[in-house]
Amino acid sequence: AHQPLVLGIESSCDETGVGIVRGHTLLADAVASSMEQHAPYGGVVPEIASRAHLESIVPMIELACERASVKLHDVDAIAVTSGPGLAGALMVGVGAAKALAFALDKPIYGVNHLAGHVAVDQLEHGALPEPTLALLVSGGHSNLLRVNDISSDIVSLGATIDDAAGEAYDKVARLLGLSYPGGPVIDAAAASGNSVAIDFPRGLTSRKDLERHRFDFSFSGLKTAVARWVEARQRAGEDVPINDVAASFQEAVVDVLTRKAIDACVESGIEHLVISGGVAANSRLRVLAEERASAKGIELRVPKRSLCTDNGAMIAALGSEIVARGHGPSSLDFPADSSQP
Ligand code: KG4
Ligand code: ZN
Repeated sequence: AHQPLVLGIESSCDETGVGIVRGHTLLADAVASSMEQHAPYGGVVPEIASRAHLESIVPMIELACERASVKLHDVDAIAVTSGPGLAGALMVGVGAAKALAFALDKPIYGVNHLAGHVAVDQLEHGALPEPTLALLVSGGHSNLLRVNDISSDIVSLGATIDDAAGEAYDKVARLLGLSYPGGPVIDAAAASGNSVAIDFPRGLTSRKDLERHRFDFSFSGLKTAVARWVEARQRAGEDVPINDVAASFQEAVVDVLTRKAIDACVESGIEHLVISGGVAANSRLRVLAEERASAKGIELRVPKRSLCTDNGAMIAALGSEIVARGHGPSSLDFPADSSQP
């Protein structure tokens, strides 16, 4: 059967992404990032992100079409991130998608950014088994999800009660004097550090915490513990062993993420785990998750790095699935919803 050609637009944070897919086949993925413009501030500045989206959105649409060798009027449906994310940033993508849908007279689908992070795996590993468990770890989110139906039925089992995992990487990098974004630099520093040098706390893993927060995460206590440890060293006039701090911090994050994800699989009898979002690029997370998953007979899927971070292909992949399962399009007046669950 002829599968529809779906163009996806992503603009929820600092990446302007446009992807084109047919079924589970990725035809093009064009991404422009304003990351470098935010670096001096140690985090994403919403106003800068919105302006960068405005500048990049049309060039990325053109680039994606060129790379996929398709003309805009060949596109069968348009999908766009409707939330969650930064309000002003979302509005640029949603506005562009609506203009395209209106001008081309094509159906439009407003879709959820987090579901997109999970759906993108299909472009690499084929149809997602359902139910599947998903660990979504990025700069803005840390969620454990039970995916019953990627197009319409995703249940949250747990989430961070304070900082997101990527946010913790970014904040710890900052206090170690490393650059932004912190994930890749801490990952690299940790490679030559000792991960058992410092015993940093594992958030929400005590018996008492587990009663109320079985599958929730907390990383702000860990960040504070790292800050205290570094300050104590500096007060004593000693050098801070950055690589050991990075490795020990990373081990604490990755230990809790993988432990809870695998426990959730075992408790719910689900044999498939997808890990996605920017932090899924982390090398230690990939190794430990594979170790722990295979010990329990769980099939682990982690998309390649370029698909883990924000991109338009993930939105096109989700849109394609929604179309394939026969859901109707959104009406042209759907809003950008920054706090969408
Ligand atoms: O998914 P993403 O690109 O954007 C959001 O939706 O947030 O994730 C960005 C986050 C940043 O916090 C960044 O530090 C983190 O992903 N990150 C990593 C690595 N690469 C990126 N964290 C740990 N290890 C990495 N290798
Ligand atoms: Zn994201």
